Amino acid sequence: MRSPLTLLALASTAAAQTAHMLRFGCSQLVVERLDPLVNPGQVGTPHVHQIVGGNSFRADMKPVEHDLPSRSTCTTCTFSEDFSNYWTAALYFRARNGTFRRVQQFENEGLRQRGGMTVYYIPPYDGVSNVTAFKPGFRMLAGNPALRNNTGSSRGICHRCFEGENFRPFGGAPCTGNDTKSLPDHPCPGGIRTQVTFPTCWDGVNLDSPDHQSHVAYSIIPFEPYEEPVVKRPYTPELQRGKCPDSHPVHLPQLMYEVMFDTRPYNDKDLWPEDGSQPFVFSMGDATGHGNHGDYLFGWKGDSLQRALDARCDNAKCKELLDQTPEEAMKCRVPQTMVEDVGDETWLETLPGGVMPH
Ligand SMILES: *[C@@H]1O[C@H](CO)[C@@H](O)[C@H](O)[C@H]1NC(C)=O
Ligand SMILES: *[C@@H]1O[C@H](CO)[C@@H](O)[C@H](O)[C@H]1NC(C)=O
Ligand SMILES: *[C@@H]1O[C@H](CO)[C@@H](O)[C@H](O)[C@H]1NC(C)=O
Ligand SMILES: *[C@@H]1O[C@H](CO)[C@@H](O)[C@H](O)[C@H]1NC(C)=O
Repeated sequence: MRSPLTLLALASTAAAQTAHMLRFGCSQLVVERLDPLVNPGQVGTPHVHQIVGGNSFRADMKPVEHDLPSRSTCTTCTFSEDFSNYWTAALYFRARNGTFRRVQQFENEGLRQRGGMTVYYIPPYDGVSNVTAFKPGFRMLAGNPALRNNTGSSRGICHRCFEGENFRPFGGAPCTGNDTKSLPDHPCPGGIRTQVTFPTCWDGVNLDSPDHQSHVAYSIIPFEPYEEPVVKRPYTPELQRGKCPDSHPVHLPQLMYEVMFDTRPYNDKDLWPEDGSQPFVFSMGDATGHGNHGDYLFGWKGDSLQRALDARCDNAKCKELLDQTPEEAMKCRVPQTMVEDVGDETWLETLPGGVMPH
């Protein structure tokens, strides 16, 4: 029998190996009311998204038929073979007079980019087993835009309030420690980081599903020590982190987004509502933060993502992958299809699409 000390040593070795993850910046491609996953073909969808990745992004992107790598000529992401599209809701500041301005995004720690977000692909915790990269045409949705409370499918959605400048204090893995499911209730001196963690288990068959969620599932035991389910357990192979349910047996890499919202220009309490509530609202009209969501359309060229994962590449450099400078990535952008001021130019009477906070 192994002593508790050996178990501890094994567990910490496994933890140390998780450092091997792709982490890279993707600059803003466009901010607009388009959603080829949930509202394909529709120009002027119900709410605004902030979108990054390959420039083949458009209203209609039929799975497989719309081949992102061959239709794109540039990407806003560091790895230049990654023509995927990634998006989340946009965030707005509501002034005391009721008008809205879009909160700009800023660079994450150690990265250089124009708006956009940070993307992670994380291989399994144990450091040895392999994951299956997504297939061409694969897509999925995390979170639920209609959610306004803690019940239901908000797993993987949370927010971090940086209490100091320069991402300090850091605060550990996403959705742990002081991170909250709702938007922070007080001004954040270093801005707000919004996190979206996707499911890591796939049914192995379907590239999509009607709700864009049921072909994938969250693992029974999360990669990271999330709040739920709180499982106190010995470290054994049967209880490995990332364990998938029988219905969704194929292990995917853990896809995760971090969006750095620069709320710093709005930290003066005199700008905040007099009733003590917080002034930020997501583009769906969600002032709670529970309704944030992330969308993903896989679009890596050939087997590049699989090779990078198998090689356990770290951060934004990988010998298996071609990359570009941040400046090159920043040059890639597409014009709005749904042309309107999304709150970057003027104070808006309503959120784009006529959305009011509810
Ligand atoms: C509403 O408030 C914002 C922020 O204080 C201000 O810049 C804007 O001019 C105001 N708009 C009106 C119509 O008063
Ligand atoms: C994972 O993939 C690598 C690279 O292809 C291979 O060397 C290794 O044996 C694989 N590991 C397992 C546990 O299958
Ligand atoms: C929580 O949100 C769900 C989905 O929007 C809704 O059906 C439910 O009534 C809400 N529960 C509470 C307690 O507000
Ligand atoms: C978490 O909150 C506590 C209590 O407010 C604070 O002392 C601590 O510094 C916070 N940790 C981080 C990482 O922000």
